[in-house]
Amino acid sequence: MDILGKLQQHREEEKRLVWEGTFAEYLEILRERPEVAQSAHSRVYNMIKSHGIEDMNGKKKFNFFSNQIFGLEDSVERLVEEYFHPSAKRLDVRKRILLLMGPVSGGKSTIVTMLKRGLEAYSKTDEGAVYAIKGCPMHEDPLHLIPHNMRDDFHKEYGIRIEGSLSPLNMMRLEQEFDGRIEDMMVERIFFSEDKRTGIGTFSPSDPKSQDIADLTGSIDFSTIAEFGSESDPRAYRFDGELNKANRGMMEFQEMLKCDEKFLWHLLSLTQEGNFKAGRFALISADELIVAHTNEAEYKSFISNKKNEALHSRIIVMPIPYNLKVTEEEKIYEKMISDSDIGDIHIAPHALRVAAIFSVLTRLKESSKQGVDVVKKMRLYDGENVEGFNTADVEEMKKEFNDEGMSGIDPRYVINRISSAIIRKEVPAISPLDVLRSLKDGLDQHASISKEDREKYINFISVARKEYDDIAKKEVQKAFVYSYEESAKTLMDNYLDNVEAYCNKNKLRDPLTGDEMNPDEKLMRSIEEQIGISENAKKAFREEILIRISAYARKGKKFDYNSHERLREAIQKKLFADLKDVVKITTSTKTPDESQLKKVNEVIARLIDEHGYNSISANELLRYVGSLLNR
Ligand SMILES: Nc1ncnc2c1ncn2[C@@H]1O[C@H](COP(=O)(O)OP(=O)(O)OP(=O)(O)O)[C@@H](O)[C@H]1O
Ligand SMILES: [Mg+2]
Repeated sequence: MDILGKLQQHREEEKRLVWEGTFAEYLEILRERPEVAQSAHSRVYNMIKSHGIEDMNGKKKFNFFSNQIFGLEDSVERLVEEYFHPSAKRLDVRKRILLLMGPVSGGKSTIVTMLKRGLEAYSKTDEGAVYAIKGCPMHEDPLHLIPHNMRDDFHKEYGIRIEGSLSPLNMMRLEQEFDGRIEDMMVERIFFSEDKRTGIGTFSPSDPKSQDIADLTGSIDFSTIAEFGSESDPRAYRFDGELNKANRGMMEFQEMLKCDEKFLWHLLSLTQEGNFKAGRFALISADELIVAHTNEAEYKSFISNKKNEALHSRIIVMPIPYNLKVTEEEKIYEKMISDSDIGDIHIAPHALRVAAIFSVLTRLKESSKQGVDVVKKMRLYDGENVEGFNTADVEEMKKEFNDEGMSGIDPRYVINRISSAIIRKEVPAISPLDVLRSLKDGLDQHASISKEDREKYINFISVARKEYDDIAKKEVQKAFVYSYEESAKTLMDNYLDNVEAYCNKNKLRDPLTGDEMNPDEKLMRSIEEQIGISENAKKAFREEILIRISAYARKGKKFDYNSHERLREAIQKKLFADLKDVVKITTSTKTPDESQLKKVNEVIARLIDEHGYNSISANELLRYVGSLLNR
């Protein structure tokens, strides 16, 4: 459908959703669908839930977040299960201000924005529908109309609890326009929209030191005092502060901790009783989620100020650290790049990976666990198998520091460096080496990196470079073998047959002639030597492999090429060693002969077709690997 058609469809859809009626008619809706009377917090939680929750090894994965927020499963689970879920159940935490604390560019604003957009969309669904007193600038909950002394009866009849008191403005309207007849008061369905300031608000202090509270709670409209006679006439008051507008939904409070403490005191009753003071009126009930964000340093200075104690106890702090998984970090960059104007530049395979390796390394803290360095830790966090460690070790490592991921290189820096590499290079392709170089050059200009860290970071660039060298060699060598997996499998099967015969002191049969023959010691050794297994250790190694195979057989699992990490490494290295000379000669000759040229072209074609290169990046890769092999 074209855009005009879609516009029309959109308009019709909006029209279809409109509803207004009397309070009596609204009660009929509630009888059938009591859930539409839910609190703001409950609505946020149900919105998140409506996108699905998956079980991942006992941990909950929330689909709402998982397609845009990467690698923060633990933090997101904590956020939902320790804040949104209990506050949806009307537990006291809902009155607290939610404060997301994390390092720069770690996804805090992204999470808040997702919640806003999520709520907007949810308010257009049947389950997420929101109704309000018609024409009320605060979209007041119609149920506030029910007098306090009748609320128990209402609860018995409808199963709905009512919280909060009718606002002075609607109290007056009820008397003046409807003669006190609650059932006739008009109710309408509302749709959250940040643009229209309905149920979604953002408060950003203009001057944190001398902020006017009216921006939050509204103010007297002096031009109307003459008309209404008094400042305490609710009609002379404009309920257009951010707290008013965000009622029933959520308000983002930017730079909250930068505000003056006296200003923040206004929030105390809100975070305690769920209401706030505006002008000369009785307290106004507010039902909204308030979320703020900050970094660690700012937060620490906030809590170290005794004057903030009262507010501090009314804040729930949720840490949002950097992602620590290389694979997820790559996804963050992919997302950021596809959202930008550099989206159509060819980024060679592994370019984002090396950047991700670098940034994750800068975020990790050295574990005191025996035998773990940061590189191993990085692999383990990313879910790779590392010989000698299991998932329990990983969980233990995660608990070792509570501020891991709170510092290091941020995603925005990486994207900026990638963009600058692209602009400088002026070719439509960028390689992993370009990226590393640019990351390194940028460190000098990065204001917030200490001298000490800079040295550490430069070292991490070399680590990432080494990782890339390995990846690049493997990639090229794989491309040289017609079917790499196939060759590896054949070689491994061959090795295992020989090992079995060796351990059981059996003979093997030649598949062609059928003759009996001894295990091929030379073949077995040529593989074992690749991973440094000595003559003395070979027997133990072979037996260990047989034990692994039988353990697999017992569990009904198939033992394959990936089942034994060191064996896999040995096979890989052996295959590559056999290939090395071919690759070396082919990739580095200045004047390749006809057969070499043919081979190189084949390899380049395979890199392009199967591994995501283009002809520039594939040629660059071959040249680089050629130089590596000749070192
Ligand atoms: N874990 C993550 N998953 C997905 N995207 C992320 C993640 N961390 C950072 N980003 C991306 O990095 C960019 C910056 O994130 P965002 O603005 O949300 O950070 P922030 O924590 O609000 O930072 P600041 O403190 O600077 O305001 C965004 O494009 C965001 O999508
Ligand atoms: Mg932000």
